[in-house]
Amino acid sequence: MIILKSAEEIERIRCCCAIVAEVLQALEEMIHPGVTTAELDAFAAELIRKRGAKAAFKGYKGYPKSTCTSVNDVVVHGIPGDETLKESDIISVDIGVYKDGFYGDSARTYAVGDIDEKAERLLAVTEAALAKAIEKIQVGNHLQDISATIQNYAEEQGFSVVRDFVGHGIGRDLHEDPPIPNFGKAGYGPSLEEGMVFAIEPMINEGKAAVKIDKDGWTARTRDGKRSAHFEHSVAVTAQGPWVLSEVNGEGTQFRKENLR
Ligand code: MF3
Ligand code: CO
Repeated sequence: MIILKSAEEIERIRCCCAIVAEVLQALEEMIHPGVTTAELDAFAAELIRKRGAKAAFKGYKGYPKSTCTSVNDVVVHGIPGDETLKESDIISVDIGVYKDGFYGDSARTYAVGDIDEKAERLLAVTEAALAKAIEKIQVGNHLQDISATIQNYAEEQGFSVVRDFVGHGIGRDLHEDPPIPNFGKAGYGPSLEEGMVFAIEPMINEGKAAVKIDKDGWTARTRDGKRSAHFEHSVAVTAQGPWVLSEVNGEGTQFRKENLR
């Protein structure tokens, strides 16, 4: 069942998302050759704590850290540790926050120093796939309009879409209905209604789609060893269109909160 959220509930999700956005923005300054993923995690954990929130991933099904840091061929759920970033790496950082009964979730992939042209394109295509998918978040559209937009665009650009992990509803739980695959057929799936809130999170691979999980039970890597990118936003469905709650300025320029139910 897809839970509809009131304006007050969306506001609480937005507050969580604003903290996630602030942390992801602050990390940009820190992501340079020489920094370890554990240092990035510690910085994020401290800023989340200072904002009076909790890192949602810590302890989730036994996950040991506050963030996921996924370098190069790691698709998602990389565990921060003593790995040192080096010039030309890419790193996806995924952060979830819990505060006042609600969750917010967002991720992005960063370049470490200068990256090659193929990696630049992988990041640009993954971010654009998310942006194009968000445009489909309109009352009356179907859920798989989001999925198909991501798949069609990524594949057109010569990349592949990960099947093993999907986006999700978000609210009082980190993962709510509906699951939101990054592949599918336009016109299918439930109709979008005002008050739904979705975490849309394309994971796009440079090579083939297949992934494998490390012995740690979390780290998901591409089977072919090629690189993967991940961008995620939490987005509310409103009568005025998509409201990207995890944008740095999630106050929203194109809508007025007052217009929500
Ligand atoms: N954004 C990812 C998701 O929604 C991250 C979950 S990480 C976990 O699935 F550690 F909490 F599992
Ligand atoms: Co998510």
